[in-house]
Amino acid sequence: GGGGSTASQLEEVSLGVSTPSYANKNRERKGSGGVGHPEPPRPARVRGPAPLSVQFIEVLRKRWNCAKRDPVGRFYEVILPILLVALVMLILLLNISPSGPSLELETQMYNLLGNTSPEPYVTAPVTPPSNVGFSTRVEQNLLGTGVNLVGMSPSIKDSTNMSLYLLDTRFENLKFAGYCPDDEILIEYPENLKEGLQLSGVNNGEVVANANYTEVRPELTIMHNSTGYHSIPAHFAAYTKAQLQDQTDDAGADYEVASHPLPLTARKSLELKAILSLFAALFILIPYCYVPATFVVFIVRERAVKAKHLQLVSGLTQWVYWLGTYVWDLINYIIIVLGTMLVFRAYQDEDLTGDTESFNAVLTLFCLYGMATIPLSYSLSFLFENHTTAQISIAGILFVKGFLLVITSALLDGISGTAEINETLKFYYRFSPAFCLGEGLINLSVRRLRNLLLGENTSPWDEEVIGRAIKYLVAEVFVFCLLTLAIEYKLTKKAFRGCKSVWASCCGRGGSGSGAEDGAGAGQGYPEDEDVAEERKRILSYPGSSTDFVCLRNLTKVYGNGTRAVDRLCLGIPRGQCFGFLGINGAGKTTTMKMITGEVGVTSGSAFVMSMNAETQRTEVRKHMGYCPQFDPLFDRMTAREHLWHYATIRGIRRDRIFPIITQVLDTVGLNLYADIPAGTYSGGNKRKLSLGLALIGEPSVVFLDEPSSGMDPVSRRFMWDVIERVARRCCVILTTHSMEECEALCSRIGIMVGGRLRCLGSTQHLKNRFGKGYNLEAKLDPARFADFESFMRKHFPLAVIAEKLSNGILRYELPRDGVSLAHIFGLIEKNKSELGLTNYSVSQSSLERVFIQIAEKDYSAGEGGNGSPSNAVALMAPGEARCDSEAWDRKDHHRRNPLAKNGSEVELATLQLQRTATNEGFVGDADGEEGLIVGSTVGASGMGSESKQKPQGATNGVEILASI
Ligand SMILES: Nc1ncnc2c1ncn2[C@@H]1O[C@H](COP(=O)(O)OP(=O)(O)O)[C@@H](O)[C@H]1O
Ligand SMILES: [Mg+2]
Repeated sequence: GGGGSTASQLEEVSLGVSTPSYANKNRERKGSGGVGHPEPPRPARVRGPAPLSVQFIEVLRKRWNCAKRDPVGRFYEVILPILLVALVMLILLLNISPSGPSLELETQMYNLLGNTSPEPYVTAPVTPPSNVGFSTRVEQNLLGTGVNLVGMSPSIKDSTNMSLYLLDTRFENLKFAGYCPDDEILIEYPENLKEGLQLSGVNNGEVVANANYTEVRPELTIMHNSTGYHSIPAHFAAYTKAQLQDQTDDAGADYEVASHPLPLTARKSLELKAILSLFAALFILIPYCYVPATFVVFIVRERAVKAKHLQLVSGLTQWVYWLGTYVWDLINYIIIVLGTMLVFRAYQDEDLTGDTESFNAVLTLFCLYGMATIPLSYSLSFLFENHTTAQISIAGILFVKGFLLVITSALLDGISGTAEINETLKFYYRFSPAFCLGEGLINLSVRRLRNLLLGENTSPWDEEVIGRAIKYLVAEVFVFCLLTLAIEYKLTKKAFRGCKSVWASCCGRGGSGSGAEDGAGAGQGYPEDEDVAEERKRILSYPGSSTDFVCLRNLTKVYGNGTRAVDRLCLGIPRGQCFGFLGINGAGKTTTMKMITGEVGVTSGSAFVMSMNAETQRTEVRKHMGYCPQFDPLFDRMTAREHLWHYATIRGIRRDRIFPIITQVLDTVGLNLYADIPAGTYSGGNKRKLSLGLALIGEPSVVFLDEPSSGMDPVSRRFMWDVIERVARRCCVILTTHSMEECEALCSRIGIMVGGRLRCLGSTQHLKNRFGKGYNLEAKLDPARFADFESFMRKHFPLAVIAEKLSNGILRYELPRDGVSLAHIFGLIEKNKSELGLTNYSVSQSSLERVFIQIAEKDYSAGEGGNGSPSNAVALMAPGEARCDSEAWDRKDHHRRNPLAKNGSEVELATLQLQRTATNEGFVGDADGEEGLIVGSTVGASGMGSESKQKPQGATNGVEILASI
């Protein structure tokens, strides 16, 4: 009910104006074969991608949408670098110039024992008779109190002797002595000072005052310990104080002597500041190496989740994508630069922002650095698939190329032997923008100093300052931008290949050959199935391109590691067909889609979409293409609505039509509840729904859906089937899935791919008929009684073959359909079941799943045998089976409200209440019977074998009976 109405809304949306009637689309749907469509492919609606300016704005809007919900990312990208710069600039605040309080100088300074003790390094002069008062004062000033004067040994005649004497006696009572040439007197310290003297390490130095008095002016020689910085002034002060007291005759006369550091000279302080700002300039490189690396995170992730590819498929122009990205990143970068300049200003960095000229120079330098480094990181980003690795590695590369190179260069410059070589090397260093930045900043930092000290008169823009760096940076901006675009457009790869082929031809090695053995199957292992061979013939017989919407001709993909993922695939899919691409994991389904959508290159062969070559006319082709990749190509921080807006705009849908379309798509895929929640928070199924919505928006003529239902709940899945069903009518849908049920529900034609090649091709029914003929009998019984059962079977069904014999008591037989009726089998077994000891048993027709497993199994065991002609396949077949499980219920339910199934009037889906007695083949039960023992049954009312006409998917002939008795 509700589902139906919303689904029809999507139809209106995706069909645009023209909604074909049911009758039309039924005519369009071919049962099997997919024989060439008579009319040439004409898309329902051709619409070019949006104008470039609109695309450009969309790229920016996308970034804004993602950025605004990511404050943490913003912090790391923009705020953190500015904070780092601020931190680095703290260096400038280091205060190296000396200041502080004055140091008062007195002999007591060297008194290590406290105030009461005299300074132990000094002896007093001898008092000359002529001026007793003065010498006493000197003595007091030098020694303080408590010193005994004793007679000195006559051997001590001079200062040398004195020192030796002191050294010899340092552990004795006599510690210090002074002498006077006239009257030799030894001063002995009191005993109580001995310990202290030893502690203070007397041998460190002995200070002796030698008063050499004359009659008039006493001459004083002060011998001092040179390890005491201030001992001369201190002792001299003691002496002059004594003089002062002597002159003024005032024993209390005193003055202070102090030492105070001189302020730095202008030159010295300039030097210091220049060194600091040089360091600051160097360390600023660290945040600036990290900044461009953070910008690649988004683009690497976008590429890894295929969101970029989907945008390109939706019509985004590659260079516009890069331009938008570049502009967005530059805006972020300029915010960082402005923040940096503010920090410089705040720190009053005279050298970098002192005058307008320097300010402008620094600003230019930073901007050019960003403009060059950002595309450089873009180019490097192509090397990485993981955004974290990309960020760390690129930051590392920039760091080595910048910071370390600057330091290396500075070191080499400093060593006289290497300075000259370094001048030459700098030419190469400058290819790294970070080196240019570092060099420029350092040159600017020391420019003022050089001007002052060396008398130079340079302006910031001069060649030796930043002029050269700027020239290099300007060139690098262009070089790296072009490099990015060249990589994007795979020019580098082509150039590389060109070089390789030139080299190969020079060396006389033949062309690569490219494995172009074409045509009919006789490749490896087994011969091609007849249906597949027929399709190949049909495709290859077209002169130019076929009339199919999608046409693959010998499409081949060999990956770089030698994996032949797709091997000479030939397939045509007409309009209105939903083609089911089946195959085990690694069969090459996704690779096929990737080749058609242009995500990976085609090794050989070609793919045509709407008669246009998917490789050479990529832009044209993409207008008609919708793609839902295997993994959700979503931006975690964008909501469903924003996603739809983004892709709708890129697709070129007019602005006034976008809103209703978005609303309706949201309705249709059932994402209304989540429309305004970031996609990163969605469950797997909801992500899938959004991816599907993105593939459908913009009315593409060809829709590729790679496992669209994986991870979806059964309700959503059925909902999605309705959507796909409707879309498939007017365009052509290529679908891969692992759900056979889905395939039966949706696909009018199925190809099973094994190892890169189609193993079989046709409608569901066709495949079942060809590969799943007969019935499948599964019995569960005691393994001990297997022999009885086997003989029973041999007797009654001599053609039955044992397909499977499991130790858990399951025995599976395969019975050819010819000549045996289901009723007969059923009746016979029912009659004998207790005798045979059957716990339960089932009889069924082969299901698609059986067919698939059997075909895929062949691949697993491929290599052994490899004999099978097409008819052999039947013999190899594993028995089919059908289960009446809840999913089967759902399917029937789906079919019941599936307009197509209804339209195919020969399909009757019934739930049967099974009678215990045997029934005839073709028996039809009560279609509405619900309760009781249930058998899932699909009954073909029309005769078997006539299904080729107008048979929609899902119709199966015969009766499937599962009985539990
Ligand atoms: N980028 C790649 N490089 C090398 N081999 C790849 C690459 N992608 C896929 N393959 C290989 O190609 C084969 C087909 O893969 P794929 O197309 O993804 O299978 P499917 O979608 O059918 O599960 C696999 O064997 C896979 O390992
Ligand atoms: Mg796949």
